[in-house]
Amino acid sequence: MTIKAVVFDAYGTLFDVQSVAAETERAFPGYGEVITQIWRMKQLEYSWLCSLMEQYQDFATLTRSSLQYTLDALGLAHDTATVDRIAEQYLHLAPYADAKAVLEALQGRPLAILSNGSPEMLDALVRNSGLSALFTAVLSVDAVGVFKPSPRAYDLVERRLGIHPHDVAFVSSNPFDVSGAKSFGFKVAWIERVTATALADDCRDPDAIGPLTMFKATRLRPDRFGFAPDWSIRALSDLTALLRTPSP
Ligand code: LAC
Repeated sequence: MTIKAVVFDAYGTLFDVQSVAAETERAFPGYGEVITQIWRMKQLEYSWLCSLMEQYQDFATLTRSSLQYTLDALGLAHDTATVDRIAEQYLHLAPYADAKAVLEALQGRPLAILSNGSPEMLDALVRNSGLSALFTAVLSVDAVGVFKPSPRAYDLVERRLGIHPHDVAFVSSNPFDVSGAKSFGFKVAWIERVTATALADDCRDPDAIGPLTMFKATRLRPDRFGFAPDWSIRALSDLTALLRTPSP
């Protein structure tokens, strides 16, 4: 069986959500890390809540409201301009260092993004990163009004690219997305950016466990739903060799 298309998650997979930390720290010195972690956790949680309530709001709206939640929860006074400036960072996230090279190496078959991001957010992010020309399609779940891991979100790939899920390699570093994509029927490559050993190292001194460790433990280790990925890799660059070998 061959892989006919490679589809990437965006936030945390091609683009580093932790790269907002410079701006959160600049805006609220000493609070950058805690804001960054609560914000991302809440942003994802809001996407799942909206989906369950069947009250869709786009990801740009949720990115702002989860940031405002975070600042309120931490008792940090803020004005609209500050929220705008921090939320704007989502349009300028740093791509992972190996993203461009791997996208270039995989040219020759359709390469797409399937993301919770709103179309405007994704278009701006991909354009600002200089990677636009490397993608066949940038798909936003906005078209179906429900977030990943709903099957209706993953189904957009077949609807837009005309490729059966079994012929798609879906790439994500987000464990919830790995479970969702595998449950849906894609071949799935999980990027294990934080290994169990590295996390255990972070936890060796309980007094030093901070918000980033909590984020890693909550959002970056495999979930226990039984939908294991087909491949576990450590970096985007591992895809090049992996997609040269026959798929499982
Ligand atoms: C995305 C989030 C889930 O890009 O990372 O869809």
